[in-house]
Amino acid sequence: MPLIRRFKKEDLEKVRNIADISLKEEYNTELFLTIKEMWNDGFQVYEISGEIRGFICGMIIDPETVRVLMLAVHPLFRNRGIGSRLLQRFVEISSSIGIKKIVLEVRVSSKRAISFYRNRGFQITDRLKDFYTNGEDGYKMVRFL
Ligand SMILES: CC(C)(COP(=O)(O)OP(=O)(O)OC[C@H]1O[C@@H](n2cnc3c(N)ncnc32)[C@H](O)[C@@H]1OP(=O)(O)O)[C@@H](O)C(=O)NCCC(=O)NCCS
Repeated sequence: MPLIRRFKKEDLEKVRNIADISLKEEYNTELFLTIKEMWNDGFQVYEISGEIRGFICGMIIDPETVRVLMLAVHPLFRNRGIGSRLLQRFVEISSSIGIKKIVLEVRVSSKRAISFYRNRGFQITDRLKDFYTNGEDGYKMVRFL
């Protein structure tokens, strides 16, 4: 049975691997542990038969706002509803602590991710110049809960 649960230290290598092949930034191992320390409830993994297929993590910005830092699903397991379920869990956890707004950034070239978020209630509110380390612009997207 699939399970969405809090990230733990032992998941580090698997999560990092999914991030490396899905996101075009290099993230060091310490970053994942720091994110866990900041808000472990906001760091969730999708597991099936002991294998991790995707994860979501974020941070609390202020008492009413959270930011999605990363959402990624292993390429072989996309379009099966895993990303939606991870995002939905993140929304539920955020709601349960009184959050009213979720923000995130996405590459302007990530058409698929932009439409994924649009279809789930996010709207583009800003264009962020040179946001990524390769100089690519980002879009800021927002969803009100
Ligand atoms: C964006 C991302 C997380 C989506 O994850 P995913 O698991 O493929 O997402 P889902 O399967 O829930 O939804 C993707 C599409 O599959 C469709 N889908 C969902 N469940 C499905 C099912 N059971 N069968 C067939 N299709 C399905 C959905 O309709 C959705 O299309 P839509 O957005 O037009 O509604 C994933 O593509 C990814 O990791 N991308 C690279 C990293 C990235 O860009 N992350 C976002 C920026 S941080």
